Amino acid sequence: MKIISSIDELRDQLRGQLRTVFVPTMGNLHEGHLSLMRLARKHGDPIVASIFVNRLQFGPNEDFDKYPRTFHADVEKLEKEGVYVLFAPTERDLYPEPQQFRVNPPNDLGGILEGEFRPGFFTGVTTVVLKLFSCVQPKSAVFGKKDYQQLMMVRNMCRQFALPTEIIAAETYRAEDGLALSSRNMYLSEQERAEAPALYRTLNEVAEEVRQGQPDIFTLERDAMARLAARGWKPDYISIRKRIDLQPPSAGDIAQAEPMVVLAAAKLGVTRLIDNLEV
Ligand code: PAF
Repeated sequence: MKIISSIDELRDQLRGQLRTVFVPTMGNLHEGHLSLMRLARKHGDPIVASIFVNRLQFGPNEDFDKYPRTFHADVEKLEKEGVYVLFAPTERDLYPEPQQFRVNPPNDLGGILEGEFRPGFFTGVTTVVLKLFSCVQPKSAVFGKKDYQQLMMVRNMCRQFALPTEIIAAETYRAEDGLALSSRNMYLSEQERAEAPALYRTLNEVAEEVRQGQPDIFTLERDAMARLAARGWKPDYISIRKRIDLQPPSAGDIAQAEPMVVLAAAKLGVTRLIDNLEV
């Protein structure tokens, strides 16, 4: 595996490749990331992964400085997955001057759910993804469904900018007890780790009630948040949304069994976890 930090070198290395499949990450790789690499292998060749902790997508009071950085362990894992190039730019490589041009995501998708609780997050994500795509020029790129809104945002951006990259969605990788794998799980204490699967259990309970045709989604959401709060969580949201655009379903949508997804974000101690479940 070649480890490259400069954009020019990356371009030289990938020149002429027409089927590059790209997996962007922020490092601290776990089995969830590795499952993205395995899916990537089915969609193209060579596989290019990136590791870049993108300051632009962190709020001023978020965990940019303490975000886990485990570069050497990550390299070993990627070697084993047959990754051809690891693009690991420094901030100076990727942002040699202040990144003043930024993507401005539409408010109806960018201002809700994660966008409401993490202002600027999707501007930061889409800006870095656009820039990474410009560096790697992939034919396809893999994103996990765990970050459901991010996946949709990137897809919509590609469509509206007519980018030639196909976005491939990977299923969420879960621990045996249901907890979605995330780099932020490592902030959890032992006790919190034991409690953490309650988030996914709650999503399953809500999904089941939606499946049974319970029309009052406001009450479902409110009760689910109250159940989590009673267990010591601080929920930001539990929301039942239409899969197509992440907007709230109307009564008609529910009656016609419109495909839906339940999305949740909640804090357990200092750790903010997100998860979702398609209905
Ligand atoms: O999902 C992530 O790890 C990040 O948001 C991404 C897509 C690598 C952009 O920094």
